[in-house]
Amino acid sequence: MSGGHNEDLFARARRAMPGGVSSPVRAYGSVGGTPRFLESAHGAYVVDADGREYVDLIASWGPAILGHAHPEVIEAVTDAAARGLSFGASTPAETLLAEEISGRVAAVERVRFVSTGTEATMTAVRLARGVTGRDLIVKFSGHYHGHSDGLLAQAGSGVATLALPGSAGVPEAIAAQTIVVPYNDPAAIAEVFARHPGRIAAVIVEAAAANMGVVAPEPGFNALLAQTCHDNGALLILDEVLTGFRVGPAGYWGVQQQTGETYAPDLFTYGKVIGGGLPVAAVAGRAEVMDLLAPVGPVYQAGTLSGNPVAVAAGLATLRRADAAVYAALDATSAALQAEVGAALEREGVPHVIQTAGNLFSVFWGAPVAGGVPDYETATRQESFRYAAFFHEMLAQGVSLPPSAFEAWFVTASHDADALSRIAAALPAAARAAASATP
Ligand SMILES: Cc1ncc(COP(=O)(O)O)c(C=O)c1O
Repeated sequence: MSGGHNEDLFARARRAMPGGVSSPVRAYGSVGGTPRFLESAHGAYVVDADGREYVDLIASWGPAILGHAHPEVIEAVTDAAARGLSFGASTPAETLLAEEISGRVAAVERVRFVSTGTEATMTAVRLARGVTGRDLIVKFSGHYHGHSDGLLAQAGSGVATLALPGSAGVPEAIAAQTIVVPYNDPAAIAEVFARHPGRIAAVIVEAAAANMGVVAPEPGFNALLAQTCHDNGALLILDEVLTGFRVGPAGYWGVQQQTGETYAPDLFTYGKVIGGGLPVAAVAGRAEVMDLLAPVGPVYQAGTLSGNPVAVAAGLATLRRADAAVYAALDATSAALQAEVGAALEREGVPHVIQTAGNLFSVFWGAPVAGGVPDYETATRQESFRYAAFFHEMLAQGVSLPPSAFEAWFVTASHDADALSRIAAALPAAARAAASATP
């Protein structure tokens, strides 16, 4: 289908910016076609440059938990902006936001605000190295922690393989400090610690993986990581940039606590929802670890716009509004949507599996993954071409899905019966497109 005005905007954008985008996935590289240029958004909907309205299942990749342009958030932002955009000094609201976070997450005593999830994980890694005096970091294949050099390392070929750079421009010496292991594999963790005694500063893990499609940790896996780290003098960094305050009031860690899986990460990283759509992210954790950060301790970290008053106002208004009713609505909407999608695909005989982590979910396509996806290697074997066909048919019918099979689908508290029925109406044709798609 023609992108109309979007075509011209994309052509012009490509002359002005690499790939025409400010972040690669927006370019529709993995589904093809012309990205929609958005002009506005309200509630569960986004509106493109042709004036077409779409039910939005991206939600700004997570932050828009209440729905777009929520009146209470807009009012808070407008009030804050009228009092000045940035002071480069402390504000009372920062402390309120830090208290809101530590009030929700019992394991958090101190919070340091930054502007992006990338900065949060980068800072957490530096802090772990500062605390332990060690260099090596362990991450999992298929887990995304932002684009700092040391965390871009992708899948190593086997257990404890020293990773190759996952991006051009990452010095080998830096990539060599990151060891990539398969997810949900306790033996791989035991082996990596056995192979590098006394050298691992931290394990960093998404609280539930949601950047290779949604792959929840196996029961006990996160607790095992915490135990193994602590037995070996390393720190566990639980990356909740995506899951934090979206899947529950205390993030995925809180969901796990409630289901009886108790463990204590040393550091948490947050982003997305805590800024309510403006740039706020954070590293958080126990006082004795966090107080190694400057100015109290020797681990340096700083930011001109960190704790920006307008962004903090958006985050505070969002979190204060995100009460039990909001989380219940997100859970119910997500479950209803999963049921609709599953039924539509089943009617057309499209082999698939829907995986969840709290209210996050994604669809894996094709028979090879029908038994479930525990890790990245399995995730990459899915039939992504079916998703491209499905995606474009949904888009043509006014539903905006993430432009990659490897992304989670995001609902908001504004997705009401009307939004869900618009999605349901689009599903049969999209499921047919997925069924007849060829590689
Ligand atoms: C789990 C996780 N960590 C870190 C990041 C990086 O956050 P940002 O894009 O704000 O730099 C992301 C972004 O999607 C993420 O999903």
